[in-house]
Amino acid sequence: MTGKILVTREIPEAGLRVLDEAGFDVTVLSEAPPAREKLLEAAQGAEGVLSTVTETVDDEFMDAAGDGLKVVSNMAVGYDNVDLGAAKKRGVVVTNTPGVLDETTADVAFMLLLAAARRLGEAERVLRAGRWEWWGPKLFMGPDVWGKRIGIIGLGRIGQAVARRAWGFGMEIVYHNRSRKEEAEKGLGARRMELNELLETSDFVSIHTPLTEDTHHLIGAEELEKMKPRAVLVNTSRGPVVDEAALAGALAAGSIFAAGLDVYEEEPRVHPKLLELENVVLAPHIGSGSIETRDKMAVLAAENIRAVLGGEPPKSPVEG
Ligand code: GLV
Repeated sequence: MTGKILVTREIPEAGLRVLDEAGFDVTVLSEAPPAREKLLEAAQGAEGVLSTVTETVDDEFMDAAGDGLKVVSNMAVGYDNVDLGAAKKRGVVVTNTPGVLDETTADVAFMLLLAAARRLGEAERVLRAGRWEWWGPKLFMGPDVWGKRIGIIGLGRIGQAVARRAWGFGMEIVYHNRSRKEEAEKGLGARRMELNELLETSDFVSIHTPLTEDTHHLIGAEELEKMKPRAVLVNTSRGPVVDEAALAGALAAGSIFAAGLDVYEEEPRVHPKLLELENVVLAPHIGSGSIETRDKMAVLAAENIRAVLGGEPPKSPVEG
């Protein structure tokens, strides 16, 4: 295969190897992330594009690539950065990388949940600043995690991986999802409920829903108001699912105990009010960022391109 492939960011070698071995003419952009103009220029004549969450792949992008564009392979499970309508009208296949990052992302959700509850960020900042004076009977107390109720919003693959971790912590699992998940109900005792009831009764709320028109600001001021005063909110899905300004307000007012975030409304910008708060743990969108998983994502993304341009069905097409 000889077509031109644009890889919009530097990705793990394992993925590039797949493209090189297939014989493609591969261009990798080294800027992190590429300026829009450079991206559009580099897209010209590409038959395949391996994109990431930092690129908006829309009409303008596909026009810049031209008529030869056949596949956009997003190296992420989420694909809200890709305009599926624009792809469909041009007959461009869109693929993503589901399945290979569930456990890794669930680890980060649980890491944030534990860190927010037990105040790790705040405690470490005090220690590093030389302000830790002694063991204290009331030092950095936070709510227990084990044995509490976790409410999982979106019980897809990642949500279920979080549920398995919660089960290991002896937690009671409730969930809100469009469809029933009988396996999780049988295996983990998970109970499906309406969003309001989940918010009102859960000690921990973890979000694992994709970003769509329906889930934009799914958690806003009103929903935060419903949560328990000692509740912890975790978001590893997409920033705009939570109204960041409303969350900053709730955390500042102490109407919920803490939050753990890996995603933001306007990455890499983080709402300035969140940056000032002690009761929020902030990670820079590293959910799937283990060495092994990023390799697998890069390989799967490259294999999807190879399949489409080789006239075969891709392993993980996005149904548009
Ligand atoms: C990362 O955010 C992903 O969607 O895989």
